[in-house]
Amino acid sequence: MHILVTGGAGYIGSHTTLQLLERGDTVTVFDNLNNSSTISLERVSQLIDKPINFIQGDLIDTNELHKLFSQFQFDSVVHFAGLKAVGESVAQPLRYYQNNVSGTLNLLQEMQKANIKTLIFSSSATVYGDPQALPVTEEAPVKPTNPYGQSKAMIEKILSDLCDSDSEWRIACLRYFNPVGAHPSGYIGEDPSGIPNNLMPFVSQVATGLRECLSVFGNDYDTPDGTGVRDYIHVMDLAQGHLAALDYLANQPSGKLLTINLGTGRGYSVLEMIEAFEKTIGKPISYRIVGRRSGDVASCYADPSLAEKLLDWKAARGIEDMCIDTWRWQSNNPRGYREQQ
Ligand code: NAD
Ligand code: UD1
Repeated sequence: MHILVTGGAGYIGSHTTLQLLERGDTVTVFDNLNNSSTISLERVSQLIDKPINFIQGDLIDTNELHKLFSQFQFDSVVHFAGLKAVGESVAQPLRYYQNNVSGTLNLLQEMQKANIKTLIFSSSATVYGDPQALPVTEEAPVKPTNPYGQSKAMIEKILSDLCDSDSEWRIACLRYFNPVGAHPSGYIGEDPSGIPNNLMPFVSQVATGLRECLSVFGNDYDTPDGTGVRDYIHVMDLAQGHLAALDYLANQPSGKLLTINLGTGRGYSVLEMIEAFEKTIGKPISYRIVGRRSGDVASCYADPSLAEKLLDWKAARGIEDMCIDTWRWQSNNPRGYREQQ
């Protein structure tokens, strides 16, 4: 199978690209390198011992996209490309809607012209907003609270309308919970630019000494220890979820829209994550409790049973693997891929 991976130079895309290549698929990565570099793909290439087919281009540029689809005959598309910083999306909503929604529309139009109708889309648990019931099932109301989440919800709606209009489309919207960890080689991992927004990259940068102290955003939530609870999922498990979704769609007798949670079903608090990381590295992580971060929810964790039932997929890696692999990546690459530039 020849699979187009948009955003394949990024964090989740690079891990998924590697797994697709490992199982024998042909992959073309399309990425504008807005939040990544080609070094991730060079590392993937070293791990698989094969060159990577990479096209630098932007989903917003319809000419580039047209050229891409004229040049190759893809069987399916795994669509990671998007902007993902919540705070930035509040400050720059038009940029987020333009990049994420218009970029996806451009992609879908080219797919339609080329008669390629199988798509895996990176959605997010952020579409649930502040969930009213836990664990969160796919039936929970979609109520995003920021432009980033809105862009994901809007794309899901577009994909649903597309499936209604033409029963040949096979589409999976995968709602990721909190991806963490790295490839066990320590060669590829998450490389946020600037100060990390997310918990685990920040914790690991405190551990290497790049940052002084972690701010824990609130200890007065209605959770067992007062800190926020999330469903952290190892990026290797997440990548496998994409392969399982591709297989599922390929085996459907006709068109299909699948909307599915990819999480572990287990929530951990911020303090539990810090403790697990301290155990992994054998030294304390410096942190202080500060006020709540605006827009945060107390608890969010998945009901992952639909993914197990339909995709025969279940997260296999626990909190220890998440910490060990995060640490291996971070300690080998304290400044991420930039060290090599
Ligand atoms: P990432 O930023 O590492 O990867 C996204 C990639 O897309 C980057 O390499 C970027 O350069 C590229 N890109 C962005 N806009 C593009 C455009 N217009 N044209 C071409 N390439 C473009 O992010 P990630 O963590 O790997 O996330 C992948 C996807 O999963 C995103 O859509 C994100 O919204 C979604 N997601 C991520 C998380 C998370 O916590 N990492 C959680 C839920 C959903
Ligand atoms: C964030 C995004 C969400 C996205 C998700 C997955 C926000 C409001 N939401 O969610 O849209 O889908 O990432 O990547 O940004 N924490 C600290 N100190 C820090 C960083 C985080 O205490 O420096 C806490 C948070 O308050 C939260 C937990 O750690 O309780 C996890 O935070 P984070 O990694 O940012 O993920 P989410 O808040 O779940």
